Amino acid sequence: MAVSTTVLSLVLVVCFCCHVVVPSLASSSEENFLQCLSEKIPGELLFTQSSSGFMSVLTSSVQNARFATNATVRPACIVTASDVAHVQDAVRCGRWHGVRLRVRSGGHDYEGLSYRSVRAEVFAVLDLARLRAVRVRPGEKDEEASAWVDSGATLGELYYAVGMASPTLAFPGGACPTVGVGGFLSGGGIGLMMRKFGTGADNVLDARIVNADGDVLDKAAMGEDLFWAIRGGGGESFGVVVSWKLKLSVVPRTVTVVNTVRAFDETTAAVLAKWETFAVRPFLPDLTIRAVVQGNNTVFQTFFLGSCSRLVGKMDAFFPELGTREGDCREMSWVRAMAFITLSSSDVNVPLEGMLKRTNNLGTYVKNKSDYVRCAVGKAGWERIYREHLSRNGALMMIMEPHGGVVGSVIPDSFTPYPHRNGVLYNIQYVAFWWADGGAAEAANGWINGLYGFMEPLVSSNPREAFVNYRDLDIGQNTVGNDGVTTYESGKVWGEKYFMGNFHRLATVKGQVDPGDYFRNEQSIPPFRAA
Ligand SMILES: Cc1cc2nc3c(=O)[nH]c(=O)nc-3n(C[C@H](O)[C@H](O)[C@H](O)COP(=O)(O)OP(=O)(O)OC[C@H]3O[C@@H](n4cnc5c(N)ncnc54)[C@H](O)[C@@H]3O)c2cc1C
Ligand SMILES: *[C@@H]1O[C@H](CO)[C@@H](O)[C@H](O)[C@H]1NC(C)=O
Ligand SMILES: *[C@@H]1O[C@H](CO)[C@@H](O)[C@H](O)[C@H]1NC(C)=O
Ligand SMILES: *[C@@H]1O[C@H](CO)[C@@H](O)[C@H](O)[C@H]1NC(C)=O
Repeated sequence: MAVSTTVLSLVLVVCFCCHVVVPSLASSSEENFLQCLSEKIPGELLFTQSSSGFMSVLTSSVQNARFATNATVRPACIVTASDVAHVQDAVRCGRWHGVRLRVRSGGHDYEGLSYRSVRAEVFAVLDLARLRAVRVRPGEKDEEASAWVDSGATLGELYYAVGMASPTLAFPGGACPTVGVGGFLSGGGIGLMMRKFGTGADNVLDARIVNADGDVLDKAAMGEDLFWAIRGGGGESFGVVVSWKLKLSVVPRTVTVVNTVRAFDETTAAVLAKWETFAVRPFLPDLTIRAVVQGNNTVFQTFFLGSCSRLVGKMDAFFPELGTREGDCREMSWVRAMAFITLSSSDVNVPLEGMLKRTNNLGTYVKNKSDYVRCAVGKAGWERIYREHLSRNGALMMIMEPHGGVVGSVIPDSFTPYPHRNGVLYNIQYVAFWWADGGAAEAANGWINGLYGFMEPLVSSNPREAFVNYRDLDIGQNTVGNDGVTTYESGKVWGEKYFMGNFHRLATVKGQVDPGDYFRNEQSIPPFRAA
């Protein structure tokens, strides 16, 4: 109750100062909200803080030990919707009684915003893990292959269903099977096939969203602007997307995977320098090479839509420095390659069912940040990054995803909200991890901030771009104005880093569909209304 009292007094102060009438968030509202839910939604789908199942449901998809502590501001209740009608009811009860919802699909948000609040406020979690059907339509003759997938499905569940339906169909998603489809697509979604097929959200054909009035809208009903905004404009801001129609792409029966591990030395710096100019070019979209640098090791993860012999031919012609040979190749079907890569396995026969596991492993504490590189860092730059940062610290990692190809050279920057395309060489994800709370956290944040500071002159600037799916609250957080609505200016600070020239259009759409700012969090799109 301490939390609701704080909120109550804050709201009273705000109302008193500016004389606007906003729905009060008094604790009686919280009670009325719970009452409203319990009249509409079966009791076994509702968990309040006093329910015995509350903590296990709350942490069921939490991925980061940082947010499993008692310092986290927790929801007053969790609704585990098993039907779209429950989503509508939760939104309507929330609107009527002034309680906000945090939507959770897979729970992988890097700042935990799908289940925790940074500020003290009364809110509920709307968990979609039970809404996770995947229906694949293989497509015949001229009809495109497609799939309807509910937001609560994981990427692993999607890949499995697609792979079972056909050995030559695929969806361009990311490399972790437990990531939720809802959050992944809401942030654009990058992965190993985007050089060939674009981002995940570039491949969305239709969607169903529950808006701030609790109505269900498909593409035709929501209109072009909202349909554009939900395909990468960040989660939470526009409503609850309950399902997505995805375009499936045709891939060869055999794809090839190669992992090349190099100890870091001068030659590796030269290979990285070659990689950053070669791997991201417009040509060869069938070939993607991710680079992961950690401690004294660099791993080049090669994924090729074709056979080993063709791959080796291309590598000999364009990137002989990596020394890829037939003996390094593993050939398999696309779905098997996803299992192999996403389950980080060394076993090509790893059971595909492993991708259906939803259990989370709280494991380590993690902090991530991101950048985009538009000018090659070069050999001397890589040597310094390595010597001054990575070799000194095994708990710091850089994961680099090449762009170019279709995602960067063919699709315009404004096609969907994901703006990091034309001229981008690759994305960098910095990862720092540690194993205990307290001093270790400070040290780890020191390392990652040191590396991020060092990288500043080497990466994109004005704005320094960042990827919304690698959410980072350090780059800015919303402020709520006297009218109870997130200010455009506060959103612009972080919003132009994630969305660049697309931010303003996103804010305009938000102003049209949710001017009262019901759907919000610390980094939701603020409503823009022309004065
Ligand atoms: C191990 C790991 C690997 C990853 N790999 C990749 C990768 O290869 N490529 C990539 O692009 N990203 C990757 N990510 C990032 C991931 O895509 C984002 O964290 C994404 O937001 C997670 O989606 P989720 O549904 O699991 O998260 P959640 O925490 O459930 O949601 C994330 C955000 O979206 C909102 N949201 C969730 N569902 C909905 C919905 N249905 N409607 C509206 N808003 C919603 C939430 O409120 C929250 O703000 C990875 C993350 C992890 C932890
Ligand atoms: C949180 O608090 C509860 C009791 O209030 C305690 O049992 C639990 O161990 C605490 N958890 C953490 C992670 O500190
Ligand atoms: C940071 O990235 C790594 C690698 O992709 C991932 O395993 C981890 O879960 C991410 N961090 C957070 C905070 O989720
Ligand atoms: C990398 O190698 C150097 C030299 O051998 C060593 O001093 C350092 O500890 C290593 N770094 C890591 C993270 O293992």
